[in-house]
Amino acid sequence: MSYENEIEKRRTFGIISHPDAGKTTLTEKLLLFGGAIQSAGAVKSNKIKKTATSDFMEIEKQRGISVATSVMAFNYSDKQINILDTPGHKDFAEDTFRTLTAVDSVILVVDVANGVEAQTERLMEVCRMRNTPVLIFVNKMDRDGKEAFDLLDELEDKLQIKVRPLTWPIGMGDRFKGVYNLYDHSLNLFAANKTNISEEIIPIEDLSDSLLDEAVTKEFANELREEVEMIEGVYDEFDRDDYLAGNLAPVFFGSAMNNFGVKELLDAFCRISPAPRGRDTDQGFIEPNDSKFSGFVFKIHANLDPKHRDRIAFLRIVSGEFKRNTFYQHSRIAKKIKFSNPTAFMAKEKSIIDTAYPGDVIGLYDSGNFKIGDTLSETGKFNFKGIPSFSPEIFMELENLDPMKSKQLDKGIRQLMDEGVAQMFIRQPGNRKIIGTVGQLQFEVINYRLEHEYGAKCRFAPRNYTKACWITTDNNEQLDAFKRAKASHVAVDKDDNLVFLAETPFLLTMAEKDYPDLTFHQTSEFKLEGE
Ligand code: G4P
Repeated sequence: MSYENEIEKRRTFGIISHPDAGKTTLTEKLLLFGGAIQSAGAVKSNKIKKTATSDFMEIEKQRGISVATSVMAFNYSDKQINILDTPGHKDFAEDTFRTLTAVDSVILVVDVANGVEAQTERLMEVCRMRNTPVLIFVNKMDRDGKEAFDLLDELEDKLQIKVRPLTWPIGMGDRFKGVYNLYDHSLNLFAANKTNISEEIIPIEDLSDSLLDEAVTKEFANELREEVEMIEGVYDEFDRDDYLAGNLAPVFFGSAMNNFGVKELLDAFCRISPAPRGRDTDQGFIEPNDSKFSGFVFKIHANLDPKHRDRIAFLRIVSGEFKRNTFYQHSRIAKKIKFSNPTAFMAKEKSIIDTAYPGDVIGLYDSGNFKIGDTLSETGKFNFKGIPSFSPEIFMELENLDPMKSKQLDKGIRQLMDEGVAQMFIRQPGNRKIIGTVGQLQFEVINYRLEHEYGAKCRFAPRNYTKACWITTDNNEQLDAFKRAKASHVAVDKDDNLVFLAETPFLLTMAEKDYPDLTFHQTSEFKLEGE
């Protein structure tokens, strides 16, 4: 197969949702269609990661929360699908945000009864930052929920994106009859079925066809006719370019648990979603068909195997062909590294691969060379941009409980930060380590891992900060004055960028007013803002 075809056939995406909307269930059904697992229903939705991918960390097993972001690849029709799974738990939102830098598009799952929820909005904000194409799946149509037109308005309004239904539900809840495919002009009748993947599809080119009345009763047929007329009046034709630009989200309706509407979603996804895209670097844009290999690390997993202290770095390939046992340049540390057992995550198993292409995500065994955001490439002449840090919401100071183990604590906390478990800000005097997270759970994870993996003991002392803002300015005088006045609120991040740790939004506003030449950024990647 030609190099261009290898790229063209790949589809790398993430499924995102507010917890409980049905992300895991939908993932499972997609894997079922792809033949990556044999039976749905047999696998409890929450347990999917254990069967389909991995259970990397003991803590994950203990808590039953997916800490891991894993990769699942399978073939469907003529495409190779790479799903990057994201933790649903809100405390791991940062992990999800980073994973979104490695995908080319997303499927957003929304619960028909709950509509847009808090986490849905936050995730969508991140998609908007990089114009990621979004496809929406309205789930749980077998339950009563919001009226379809109301829900579409809510999606447009709260997610700030134009929407265009491509399937349309007929009834809902107990009265759910199925969906009409507005694209293929066919009717898909609903039958509650958790295990089977066959669906009854009736082509209905013309909605006045009496076949429709026979299939769903006259009452529902007339309702559908009216609603489709309305859709055509209200919404423009689906424009793929608009979708690819991240301005328009096509919407599908179904029930993941009942395996319903999922095939339409997958077929449409294969038809319209983007092939692997290039990425921006500090030396310009790299296209996927650039013949020289390049990629970036968006995720690091430590201690996969408790017997070996190894880490695995997840690398998204951006351009060229990755080859096993070939030296590549690690830009940040200016070192050449080769990999003898890079892994792919096809179906159930991890397997060693010889080559991989743009869009693929591979796992590289790492003895501590990689940090999140690192670039690996043939030329070593550039760095990919765009794994921003967002402001944490909870801040605690790390205190060592065992002075004999301060080396272990230092090493452990540094490695956990490289993995992106949390963010560390160093405050002077005294090199005080302020750890920032988006959820309480991370502190427990850090505590547990420091003790079990590094033999160090620590405690976290709450600090009153609520927001970290990255500071830039051309006015050094004003900056010095600010640093003097706010000494106990100024720290540096992992890259030595200056950060203001604000206690309240009000104090941040005051600082902005009092020091007009300083800019306070919401993410560590200043250039993305305002784009
Ligand atoms: P998440 O990954 O987004 O957090 O959601 P998950 O798939 O785990 O689904 C959350 C709950 O919603 C699960 O129920 C799941 O079975 C249910 N669900 C998913 N899709 C549908 C659907 O189309 N219709 C209905 N009615 N329910 C759906 P649970 O009780 O939490 O777990 P389980 O005991 O069913 O596994």
